[in-house]
Amino acid sequence: MRVIVEKDKEGVARRAAQFAAILVRKRPNCVLGLATGGTPLGMYAELIRLHREEGLDFSRVVTFNLDEYVGLSATHPQSYRHFMQQNLFDHINIDPRDTHVPDGRALDFEAYCAHYERLISDEGGIDLQVLGIGSDGHIAFNEPGSSLGSRTRLKTLTAETIRDNARFFGGEHEVPRLAITMGVGTILESRQCLLLAAGASKAKAIRETIEGPITAQITASALQLHRDVIAILDEEAARLLERRDYYLEVERAQAALQTGHFGRIDA
Ligand code: GLP
Repeated sequence: MRVIVEKDKEGVARRAAQFAAILVRKRPNCVLGLATGGTPLGMYAELIRLHREEGLDFSRVVTFNLDEYVGLSATHPQSYRHFMQQNLFDHINIDPRDTHVPDGRALDFEAYCAHYERLISDEGGIDLQVLGIGSDGHIAFNEPGSSLGSRTRLKTLTAETIRDNARFFGGEHEVPRLAITMGVGTILESRQCLLLAAGASKAKAIRETIEGPITAQITASALQLHRDVIAILDEEAARLLERRDYYLEVERAQAALQTGHFGRIDA
């Protein structure tokens, strides 16, 4: 896993948006996997800026969101569909028909989840999947104990996640207990993953994800099996990483290679 440490959450946002923008420019009809929560907000703001000021074109981009609360309609202020409209889709030139967020009010969830998986594969799979991380180490809503081979399905939220997400609702009792979520297996099929984390509350989950054993108890740790994951962290989220200095060294070497300043050893 490539680990990039930025100074603060603004740095994380800029760097993450850069990766997405490079892909959109290179492949205008790319498929982006998107996440909700506080973490990717800055990245979306930067993508909106790039669209407005630098003409970043989303007209042929297709998106799939990771998850949605069960029972919330698309217009519910706390639904992830609403979040995406407010924070990204309404401000860029994406075709609304190409934005997919799981339907939290589907009637037959089993059939709907299989349909969501089919939609992703019909589009040729996800090129770049953006991920946040829960304080319990979950990705999307794959709570501890989720199968590492899981596909899109219903998941019961843990007490910790309900507590964490209560800040967006009127209190814990208003947080839905169930969500539709892409599975860990679905996420691992994306061609590239960007794992974003900022703030001290993510430091433990990040250490376990990047340097701990692969375990269904920390579903983000399954990303160690993926061949192309870039973790973009701020200093606080990276604080507990034991190999931090090495990750910094790798980035320095990478930058030197790109600028052609990597001196030959025998020079
Ligand atoms: C929710 C979402 C996750 C997200 C997590 C962290 O549980 N389902 O996709 O990564 O929250 O959110 P935040 O970025 O607000 O800390």
